[in-house]
Amino acid sequence: MKTISIIVAIAQNNAIGKDNQLLWHIPEDLRRFKALTTGHTIVMGKRTFESLPVRPLPNRRSIVITDIPGEIIAGCEMAYSIDEAIDKMEEGKENFIIGGGMVYSQFMPLAHRLYLTIVHKDFEADTFYSEIDYSLWKEIERQDVEASGSLGFNYSYITYERL
Ligand SMILES: NC(=O)c1ccc[n+]([C@@H]2O[C@H](COP(=O)([O-])OP(=O)(O)OC[C@H]3O[C@@H](n4cnc5c(N)ncnc54)[C@H](OP(=O)(O)O)[C@@H]3O)[C@@H](O)[C@H]2O)c1
Repeated sequence: MKTISIIVAIAQNNAIGKDNQLLWHIPEDLRRFKALTTGHTIVMGKRTFESLPVRPLPNRRSIVITDIPGEIIAGCEMAYSIDEAIDKMEEGKENFIIGGGMVYSQFMPLAHRLYLTIVHKDFEADTFYSEIDYSLWKEIERQDVEASGSLGFNYSYITYERL
């Protein structure tokens, strides 16, 4: 089976990005992202690929989705549709959808697992996560984190599996 896992950090008002950047810098969340995704296939839209500080992210197999026929990015595998991205996923392993808004919404009906970081604050944004129907998901893990340092907001890690 090709397990499809979405990993995303979402504000209270569903905001996830602005000006092709993240809305916050949470070092602990980035470490968790790295720990979960290292050694796995990660799938992303072209805009998210372009937003990464290091491209491609090391020690992961990257699949980048684009509509531009024939476009090739060094160090990445390309998919020209959602179906093609699924074809290229790894059998018997977790494949992580790492964004952004456009790609998350297309994978949401197909995902088996969600790794959410819920940021307990509203943010101004131009990219939002679609409304989640929690009746379809079972919470399997949760950790609430208190704000520390200059962060100024609390957040929670919540993992869901499709019912
Ligand atoms: N908070 C978080 O956890 C998180 C995580 C990741 C990203 N983000 C944020 O999300 C924002 C980017 O999201 P976005 O929605 O603008 O862009 P995106 O989903 O990253 O990428 C969109 C692009 O992907 C390609 N694409 C998407 N669906 C396709 C399909 N079915 N077939 C072919 N190509 C397809 C197209 O590329 P072409 O234009 O090349 O055709 C499209 O323009 C940024 O602000 C980023 O920082 C947040």
